[in-house]
Amino acid sequence: MTGQAAGKTEQSSQKPAHKPFLAALSGKTQERPPFWFMRQAGRYLPEYRKIRAEAGGFLDLCFSPDLAAEVTLQPLRRFDMDAAILFSDILIVPYALGQSVAFEEGRGPVLEPLEISALEAKNLHEAAKPVYRTIRAIRKQLAAEKALIGFAGAPWTVATYMVEGGSSREFKTIREMAYKKPQRLDRLIALLTEATTEYLLRQIDAGAEAIQIFDSWAGILPQPLFEKYVIAPTAEIVSVLQRRYPDVPVIGFPKGAGLLYQNYIAETGVTAVSLDHTLPSEWAARHLQKLCPVQGCLDPMALLAGGDVMLDEAKRLLDIFSGGAFVFNLGHGIHKETPPENVAVLSAFLKGE
Ligand code: CP3
Repeated sequence: MTGQAAGKTEQSSQKPAHKPFLAALSGKTQERPPFWFMRQAGRYLPEYRKIRAEAGGFLDLCFSPDLAAEVTLQPLRRFDMDAAILFSDILIVPYALGQSVAFEEGRGPVLEPLEISALEAKNLHEAAKPVYRTIRAIRKQLAAEKALIGFAGAPWTVATYMVEGGSSREFKTIREMAYKKPQRLDRLIALLTEATTEYLLRQIDAGAEAIQIFDSWAGILPQPLFEKYVIAPTAEIVSVLQRRYPDVPVIGFPKGAGLLYQNYIAETGVTAVSLDHTLPSEWAARHLQKLCPVQGCLDPMALLAGGDVMLDEAKRLLDIFSGGAFVFNLGHGIHKETPPENVAVLSAFLKGE
């Protein structure tokens, strides 16, 4: 740890601190919506690149609790967001189950060929221990009015990386598998559903105050497969988390789901949804925000562009969503070429400065 902890304030009384981010997720409409940004820690920040270089590889950074806690807090020091998100990755789960994962410069993640029968659920917690330690380290340093978000990839999205061996343009192998070898895919999804549930429960045990489930590739499936591989596994995870931790909100992010956001909200039981930037905002405010709190959905390219186009777009979204429970965010992660100055300008605007 260097410098001042992210705005840490001593809690002098027993009264729990007010956390605007958690208030929004509990359904409260606030005059100034709380905000954070997906991928708020990362390569667009020079202080991240410095620590990343010291750590060696990306996975080394994810598995070094003190360094991972430090990069989690870096964006809050600069921009004073209302929530911190655990610094880790959705591919920690396949790694912890025994499928090797490497992050290659300029190539993204590369996973070894999948052998479902070789995956070992019993290795999960031992391998993921540094992640739970990171959560404890962050909570010790986090200011009282900020909330800590834990996360995992949804089974479907994580399965795409495991089956395709990395990022993919068309997802041909897994989409073909869904029709030709459904039992094989069902088995993988069932295994991931159980492991992800266990992993998230441990994150909450360690101090995560809200959970986000990233389903980045939810939008590539037709409705019957969306019901089977996106909604059903997510519903199962949410029901176990809510039984054990009824007060911990779960945000679902079925990116690209379009009209199926409605089914997703009704059938998974998530507390809130994160909207992607391709969803028509007024439709979302009318049809989704009455069902649950929403989060989103500035186009990350508007943030990269900065200036008046960015602020005009942010104002448009605030006008549309501020009448209900709302967390301001992006429609997907921050692009690595984004000037930090743009994030500073947007953050100041959102704080009313
Ligand atoms: O939001 C945050 O600040 C928390 C950390 C976080 C990371 N990845 C760090 C990361 C979170 C929440 C994720 C989620 C994640 N990871 C998703 C879901 C969200 C999305 O973007 O759709 C997905 C699909 C992944 C898988 C992944 N991880 C890919 C495809 C890549 C390579 C692409 C890239 O941007 O280089 C990663 C690597 C990764 N995860 C980086 C970071 C900061 C860059 C690694 C580096 O420092 O070199």
